[in-house]
Amino acid sequence: MSHPATEPKRNKNEFRINVYGLGYTGTITAVCLALKNHSVRIYEKNQEMVRRFNEGKPSFAHIELKSIQSQIEQCHKNMAAFSLEEKITAADFHLACVGTPSNKIGDFDLEQIVAVSKNISSSLKIKQPNIPIVLFRSTMLPNSLRELVLPVMEKESGMQEGKDFFLAAFPEFLREGSGIQDTWSPLHFIVGPISKFPEEARSRIDSLFQNSQTLEILTPEECSMIKLGSNAFHSMQIAFANELSELCNNLGISGNRVLCALINENKLRYERNYLKPGPPFGGPCLPKDLVAIQSMATAHSTKIPLLESISISNQNRLNKIADLILKQNKTRIGFHGISFKPETGDTRGSAVLNIIELLHLKNQNLKIEFFDENCSLENLNQKIRTKVIPVSDPIELLRDDTSLLVIGSQRPQPDFLANLIIKENICLDLNYFADISKHLSEKHQNILFLCPPKI
Ligand SMILES: NC(=O)c1ccc[n+]([C@@H]2O[C@H](COP(=O)([O-])OP(=O)(O)OC[C@H]3O[C@@H](n4cnc5c(N)ncnc54)[C@H](O)[C@@H]3O)[C@@H](O)[C@H]2O)c1
Repeated sequence: MSHPATEPKRNKNEFRINVYGLGYTGTITAVCLALKNHSVRIYEKNQEMVRRFNEGKPSFAHIELKSIQSQIEQCHKNMAAFSLEEKITAADFHLACVGTPSNKIGDFDLEQIVAVSKNISSSLKIKQPNIPIVLFRSTMLPNSLRELVLPVMEKESGMQEGKDFFLAAFPEFLREGSGIQDTWSPLHFIVGPISKFPEEARSRIDSLFQNSQTLEILTPEECSMIKLGSNAFHSMQIAFANELSELCNNLGISGNRVLCALINENKLRYERNYLKPGPPFGGPCLPKDLVAIQSMATAHSTKIPLLESISISNQNRLNKIADLILKQNKTRIGFHGISFKPETGDTRGSAVLNIIELLHLKNQNLKIEFFDENCSLENLNQKIRTKVIPVSDPIELLRDDTSLLVIGSQRPQPDFLANLIIKENICLDLNYFADISKHLSEKHQNILFLCPPKI
């Protein structure tokens, strides 16, 4: 049975918006639209997620949303989640935020895209004052909207795009951990309609999030490619920074200082977030989008050696970390933070979990423990769940000199750092958290870095 939801409040002059999918993208999108007083209905196929959302417990985005809890409470009446078993209502906007995971050959699996296209189609026949605008926020290949979504929607609804409804790519550039801020101030505010928008439709989209950016109209194909290109560029910067810092280290040069100097070449606007040494990249987007580009290049007989080598470089980084840990000959390895990005609670594609898998593969006798404020065993897939033991207090990770501590994705609290000095366990700081290197590296000889921040 689906959880009963209270109808979202209808505010005069604001839009009725249907959002599809309650993953990270859908949740952040829906909340931001409700904060702008729109009336938001969210449709999700997983009934447990519907129930949790209506009880005020959205999944991955939960931690981020906590910081604006009071604002959300005020706008809560503007939104409600519904199971797909409920009738899909007419709306001024339909925003598809469903998943596009990799399939076996590296392309995007478009099953959820086809399903949501059909779901949305069922509501397009309902007469309403505004022509509905259907926007796809999910990351897709450049031809997917025109060649897959459009025919499905026209066939299922019996309606004509450009006349009875408008269809467009509307990729988002959210980064987990700062999705709300990224919605108000997006890296790109672009939309790619199938047919030319009339002025009314354009200004309707422009006023959706009421942000300060000017909406740029491109083609759907350009929009998809900007999204994929942006993620590939971020992956490349991470791999570049890791390789360069490793080379510097082997030459006796501080890789950290070299990269700081590169970041400061302000005129070229390097990305401060990515261009620094750290763990390999991971997460739900960068690896899958990069693989999709490679698969697309193969299908179009295009050679992309630079882009292909990014994944190889990333895998090398992973192997290096596992080897460094194993070289210390410890029997217990404790991980402080296992999500793919600090403080997100999202473990999908986490580099820390990839390291754990690799360690387990190389030495099945290792005892691997973890502490993560935002993740429990239930957040982990079956494959990894049997290989790790959660602990409820990070101090337990510092048991005795048989244990090695890996500071993964969670910034340690000051009292934990104090214990680190006392206990003198060997510790590997994957993220170069500034406070650890600043306060401990001189006093505490046992901090390992892949590339030491100071020479
Ligand atoms: N997570 C990110 O930070 C991020 C950032 C940028 C872009 N994206 C892209 O946004 C899209 C969504 O990402 P996500 O991480 O939120 O995905 P997700 O897989 O976590 O969530 C998708 C949700 O959609 C639901 N769903 C599937 N079919 C449905 C249907 N027919 N109707 C309603 N709900 C349905 C699923 O049950 C799931 O809860 C992907 O294409 C992703 O590449 C994600």
